[in-house]
Amino acid sequence: SRRDDTKITDSDLSEQIKAVTKDSHVRAENTQLMLNYQKGEITLSQYKLLLCSLYEVYRALEDELDRSASHPSVVPIYFPQELARVETLEEDLEHFLGPHWRKRITVPAATQRYVQRLREIGKQNPRLLVAHAYTRYLGDLSGGQVLGRITQKSLGLSSKEGLSFFSFPGVPSPNRFKQLYRSRMNSIDLTKEERKELLDEAVAAFEANIEMFDDLQKILSLTEDTDVLKKD
Ligand code: HEM
Repeated sequence: SRRDDTKITDSDLSEQIKAVTKDSHVRAENTQLMLNYQKGEITLSQYKLLLCSLYEVYRALEDELDRSASHPSVVPIYFPQELARVETLEEDLEHFLGPHWRKRITVPAATQRYVQRLREIGKQNPRLLVAHAYTRYLGDLSGGQVLGRITQKSLGLSSKEGLSFFSFPGVPSPNRFKQLYRSRMNSIDLTKEERKELLDEAVAAFEANIEMFDDLQKILSLTEDTDVLKKD
């Protein structure tokens, strides 16, 4: 039930984007990496490798959002104060990898392709960043909250150490923020063609995540539980 009086109809972007990515969401949840994760079967070395990829993805996403912050399609969904993840990932990486973490960042090819795509659309069609921001941030504010608790338990972390990525101090109520985000998305002025392109890009954004998870999983299944990152 809605808490506010924003009326959402089938033709709203927020409803359409959810509908067209529904199957992709199911597939993302059911990647081996996410299934293992949900069962609490994630080790520290695996988590570190995942953090490296998330760092590269958010660095590209947030760089491009910042550069296009005044683009009319980006303005309504630009919430760096509330959502930005780069600094949180830097904190977590420093915590787990140590002071020379930057030299130890390791990402698979699929992550590089995801980053490349973000860079490209940032330069050529920044409107499509909306699809990528939606896919990552609304995911982080949804299932991501459960994953935070699972991570803490699986890795046996005492307090919130190394878990900044899951924490959104600027978002006291994820559900209400998601409502706001949806209504902002619905305020973006789009032609039919632009809307179609944005919806296709959202499916592509989920696909990029699925390929990244599969590529990470491939590395992980080859390495048992040894640390695949470079030593200091
Ligand atoms: C929404 C769970 C993985 C993107 C949600 C919701 C849940 C959830 C419970 C809320 C549904 C609702 O409010 O109606 C999970 C679980 C995952 C997972 C358990 C894996 C273990 C992912 C991944 C992505 C993602 C990998 C994308 C990279 C999203 C998005 C939404 C969402 C964009 C918002 C949908 C909308 O309201 O428009 N997820 N999710 N999720 N998730 Fe996930």
